[in-house]
Amino acid sequence: MRLEGKIGIVTAGGSGMGRAGATRFAKEGASVAIVDLDGAKAEALAGRLRADHGKVMVIAGDLRRDEFAREVVSRTVDAFGGLDFVWNHVGHPGPAAVEGVDMSQYELAMDLNLRSVLVTTEAAIPHLRARGGGALLFTASIAGLAGSAYSPIYSMAKFGVVGFVRSLAKRLAPDHIRVNAVCPGMTDTPMLRTFVARPDQPSTSNQVPEMVVRQAVKTVPFGRAAKADEVANAALFLISDEASYVSGIALPVDGAATA
Ligand SMILES: NC(=O)c1ccc[n+]([C@@H]2O[C@H](COP(=O)([O-])OP(=O)(O)OC[C@H]3O[C@@H](n4cnc5c(N)ncnc54)[C@H](O)[C@@H]3O)[C@@H](O)[C@H]2O)c1
Repeated sequence: MRLEGKIGIVTAGGSGMGRAGATRFAKEGASVAIVDLDGAKAEALAGRLRADHGKVMVIAGDLRRDEFAREVVSRTVDAFGGLDFVWNHVGHPGPAAVEGVDMSQYELAMDLNLRSVLVTTEAAIPHLRARGGGALLFTASIAGLAGSAYSPIYSMAKFGVVGFVRSLAKRLAPDHIRVNAVCPGMTDTPMLRTFVARPDQPSTSNQVPEMVVRQAVKTVPFGRAAKADEVANAALFLISDEASYVSGIALPVDGAATA
């Protein structure tokens, strides 16, 4: 098993790619703390995983709260006895508009894509160090690698994530803590629908989200969205010891969209 004996956290682990990742990591032998705002959804997943794969816990709460973002780390360490990896997967699309921007949506995007990720990371570093090293993984986006006409504010945040990853990779290298990002393209999860259905997205707001998604994925060279499992597979590699000399990368999982 590729994560035998490892202990880790997956934020936003109750749905989509986070859920696929938590499932994959548990199957590969890790003890996993699933963190999500929707405790019932996370608990349903944990119940299924516990039956076959042992140690899985749920930490339900809002990662916008600094106190909770820190608590996620301390509760995992208390329950499982240490920490080897964190997948900081939580994020938010934010507003589509720049002119007439909704600042409350801007703040939500910054809080979830950047602030909560910083706070969780700050709390995690001493515990990773105490184990002699570990892996930090972040979810950026292809909008963190190239500009996005539809999501300039999201792109602003995800470029920030990539900058943080590259900087931390250098800073934490002496501690044997590897730091990487996955950069998904369009991925078939509820968030993809949230993106295209944003009320301030003028080009698509009057169309059915499913139709917008169907049209949008035609622009991807692969002609389809990623499946959550395909992103989780990349996450597994970056977290596992198979990536022992890989740090500071922002890996597109995008069906050649940014090629
Ligand atoms: N889906 C895509 O097309 C796509 C593409 C690129 C990047 N991303 C990134 O992937 C991540 C989201 O992943 P997904 O598509 O798997 O989403 P999803 O919609 O399937 O799941 C998001 C989860 O986050 C949880 N959540 C929301 N707000 C929270 C909060 N305040 N505190 C704790 N949990 C909270 C929700 O309850 C939900 O379970 C984000 O970082 C997003 O920017 C998504």
